[in-house]
Amino acid sequence: MSNVFKQMSEVDEIKSKLDIIDVVQEYIQLKQAGTNFKANCPFHTEKTPSFMVSKERQIWHCFGCSEGGDIFTFVQKIENIDFREALKMLANKAGVKLSHHDPKMQDQKNRLLEACELVAKFWFKILEAHPGAEIARAYLKERGITDDIREEFQIGFAPESWDATNDFLKKKGFSENDIFLAGLTIKKDRGAGFYDRFRNRVIFPVKNTQGEVVGFGGRIMPGADEKLAKYINSPQTNIYNKSLIMYNFDKAKSEIKKKDRVVVVEGYMDVIASWKAGVKNTVATSGTALTRDQIALVKRYTNTIACAFDADSAGQNAAFRGIDLLLRSDVNIQVITIPYGKDPDDCVRKNPQDWASAAEHTQNFMEYIFSIAIKKYPGSSVEEKKNIGKMLLPFIGRIANGIEQAHWVHKLASYFNMSDDILREALNKTRQQAHENKIIVAKGNERKKISKTRNTLLEEMLLAIVLKFSQHLPWVIDQVSPDYIKDKDLNELYKKLIIYYTKYINPFAGEIFDFTKFYNYLDSEKAEGSNTFQDLSESLLLLADKDFAEYDAVGLKKELNNIISYLHSNNLRIQLQLIKNQLEAAENDKDLERIQKLSIEHGRIMDDLNSMGSIE
Ligand code: CTP
Ligand code: MN
Repeated sequence: MSNVFKQMSEVDEIKSKLDIIDVVQEYIQLKQAGTNFKANCPFHTEKTPSFMVSKERQIWHCFGCSEGGDIFTFVQKIENIDFREALKMLANKAGVKLSHHDPKMQDQKNRLLEACELVAKFWFKILEAHPGAEIARAYLKERGITDDIREEFQIGFAPESWDATNDFLKKKGFSENDIFLAGLTIKKDRGAGFYDRFRNRVIFPVKNTQGEVVGFGGRIMPGADEKLAKYINSPQTNIYNKSLIMYNFDKAKSEIKKKDRVVVVEGYMDVIASWKAGVKNTVATSGTALTRDQIALVKRYTNTIACAFDADSAGQNAAFRGIDLLLRSDVNIQVITIPYGKDPDDCVRKNPQDWASAAEHTQNFMEYIFSIAIKKYPGSSVEEKKNIGKMLLPFIGRIANGIEQAHWVHKLASYFNMSDDILREALNKTRQQAHENKIIVAKGNERKKISKTRNTLLEEMLLAIVLKFSQHLPWVIDQVSPDYIKDKDLNELYKKLIIYYTKYINPFAGEIFDFTKFYNYLDSEKAEGSNTFQDLSESLLLLADKDFAEYDAVGLKKELNNIISYLHSNNLRIQLQLIKNQLEAAENDKDLERIQKLSIEHGRIMDDLNSMGSIE
C-alpha cells in the first residue's frame, strides 16, 4: 500500500478527534445499550428506539428507516447541509485546520484521473479501429453517431475481455489497487485479483465540471445476454461523486450561462441527440431525479431548469419525480414536452428541428400542470373543483418562494371564484394531511421491515450474532449450509463470510476473526438491495448490539440453537413442498418410477422433520 493511504486525511483526523456519541448527543438523547447507544430516530417518527450509534465503529444506523452512516452523514442530515459544510463545522469542533487541498490526497486523485483519462483514450481507439469493435461501429452508425459526434463525446468501446483494461493500465504503470479505486475493475469473488468492470459495451466517458474523465457509463451491445443490465456505470469513487456530477455538464456549462437555462434529460444518448440538434445546454442525470447537490451546482449558472417529459406522461405523477426538490429549491422550473417518441433521442432521429423547437418553447411547470388539471376537470362543479385542488395544492404547497406561492394561490382562487384566504386555508389542510400521510408512510416502512418473513429475520439475527460474537462462527459454519439462508443478499454475505473464514482464519494457529478485516475484505460492490455488503455487514453488527448486547455465551448459544433449528426445519418444509408438487405432476403423468423415488424422498424428509420435534 502506498503512503497515500497511511497518510491521515483531514476527514480521518476529524474522526479521530471527535466521538460520534458526543456529537449525536448534542442533538438527541442517547441511552446506553451494551457497548453502544440507542435512541428514537430523529429522521422518522417512532415510539420504540431503533436508532443505534456504535461507539466502537463510530457509525449510526436506524433499523426503522434504514438510514445510516458516519459522523459526517449524521451532521449533514440533521443540519440539512452538504458535505463541505459538515466538514467545516466538524473541523471547527475538532480543532482541525482545513488546508485547501491535501497534496497527498491530490496525488492519489491525480493517479485515478490519469487512469480514467488513459482508459478513455484506449477505448476510444478500440472503437475507432479495432476489428473486435466492428459490431459496435455498425450499431452506432445505425443510431446516427457520426465520427464528429464520436470524437466530441469521446465515445469508445470496451472489448469483450475480463482483463484487457486492467492489463492495459498495469502496463502503463498503474497499480491494481489504483485501477480498482478508479472503479474500472471488480474484486474477484474467489482468489485474489480483479476483473474488468466494463466488458463488451459502448462507453460514454463521464466528466467532472472541469472536463476531466471521472467515470464511465457502458451500454450493452445489441444481441447481448438480455439478463445483463442495459447500462452499467462506474461506482462512486474518490473522483466520481455521483450525486453531484451530471453527464455533459462540463461542455454545456458555458451555453447554460449564455442561454440562462439548462435542459435536463435522462440518458446519455438523449444528451448526444440534443447536442446534435443544436441544443447544447443539455445535461443528463443518468436516469435519476436531480439531487440537492446537482441543483445547487446548476444554480451557480442559471436559475431556469427545463425538464423533458414525454407527451404521454402528462399528468402522471411518475413524470414529476424529483419535482418536489426543485419546487423547494426556488428555481424556475420549465417543462419541455417531447413532441413524439419515447425520449429526445427518438425525436431527434426523426426530426432534429422538432426537438430543438420543443426545447425552445417551454412552459412554466405550474402553468403546465394548471392546464392539465383544468383540461382533466373542465366543469365548475364542486366535485371538479375538489379534484383540481387535490391535484394542484400539493405542488403549490411545496413552492419555496412566498411570492410565487401567493401568485398560484391567487390564480387558483380566482379560477374557483373564491377568496385567496379560503384557498390558503385549504392549502394548510392539505399540508396537514401530507404531514399525516408522511407519518403513515413512515409507519408503513416500519411495517415493511416487520413483514419480512420470519426466515429472513432469523437469518439476519444469525449473521448478526456471528459477526459480533465470532467465537460462535466455526460452529455455525459447520451447522448452517448456505442454502438455509434464503434472502439473496444475506445468502451472498454468508457465503463471503465462509470463504473468508476458510481462507484467512486458521484457528489452529490461534487466529481469530476480526470484523474490521472482514469488512475491508468485502468489496464495495452493491448488493442486490441498494446497500453494499460492507454496509450490510455493518448494520448487522449494530443489530447484534441492539438485540443481543445483554446475552452471555450460554444465552447466545441457546438463541443460535433455536434459530438454526428453525432455519433447518423451514428448509426441510420448503423441500417437502417442492417434492409434493413434483409428486402431483408425476401422479398426473402416471410415472410410477418417479412416484416411487419421490415418495421415498418425501418419507426421508418427513422423518428428518419429525426427529427434530415440533420446533416453531
Ligand atoms: N440507466 C442506468 N442503468 C440502467 C438503465 C438506465 O444507469 N440499467 C441510465 C443511463 O444513464 C441511461 C438512462 O438511465 O442513459 C436512461 O435509460 P434508458 O431510457 O433506458 O436508456 P437510453 O438512454 O434511452 O438508452 P438507449 O436509447 O440506448 O436505449
Ligand atoms: Mn433512448
